[in-house]
Amino acid sequence: MNEHLPLIVANFKAHKNWEKVESWLEVVGKQASWFTGTIIVCPSAPFLAAAYQKLEASSQGSAGWRIKLGSQDLSKFEQGAYTGEVAASQISDIVDYCLIGHSERRQNFAEDEKILTQKVQNAINAGINPIFCVQNADVTIPENVKIVAYEPVFAIGTGNPDTPDNAQAVSKKLKAEGNYTVLYGGSVSDTNIKSFLKGGIIDGALIATNCLDPQQFIKVLEVLKS
Ligand code: PGA
Repeated sequence: MNEHLPLIVANFKAHKNWEKVESWLEVVGKQASWFTGTIIVCPSAPFLAAAYQKLEASSQGSAGWRIKLGSQDLSKFEQGAYTGEVAASQISDIVDYCLIGHSERRQNFAEDEKILTQKVQNAINAGINPIFCVQNADVTIPENVKIVAYEPVFAIGTGNPDTPDNAQAVSKKLKAEGNYTVLYGGSVSDTNIKSFLKGGIIDGALIATNCLDPQQFIKVLEVLKS
């Protein structure tokens, strides 16, 4: 595993235009340069190339930002006549990671085990590291996945997180199965992130609501300082 832990993923979902993505990168890039873990930001697909260029330009400067880029999704098709799709091979030069299997994709886009396995395969073949989301410890995890995000549906966007004890028990179970890097996601905030990451059983967090405002996101990172 190359990532410095904790691994904190910011999932913008279908929020923010480019102007807002760009200012988020600037604020977090400059104000979180002390953070020794790994930040992975996942903006919407149309902004990946511009975000990549912005991050590349910053990493050439002396105060290189500690932010990596991820996609929120990719196509189950390798490439070809699939209007509207974004194939792994098209973004592999610009992203290092991709979320796959988020419950919102499973529910709203009927993504089942077969489709998700294809997506993971496409990501890996293109050199993209999948961050595979599971809603409980019994969900099938495709081969070659290294990073798993445990995100119980009741906790997503509700302000009602799982308990750290239960999330850590799920993490232990997942690690016993596949030695994964395990993230917890679902209503993570500055007031609860420390309790989830305590003891190193959970390796990081997947955050949506509390990542959108860059200052709020920095607050979440800052409690990890001490
Ligand atoms: P939340 O969402 O942080 O808003 O709960 C997490 C996610 O959906 O990845």
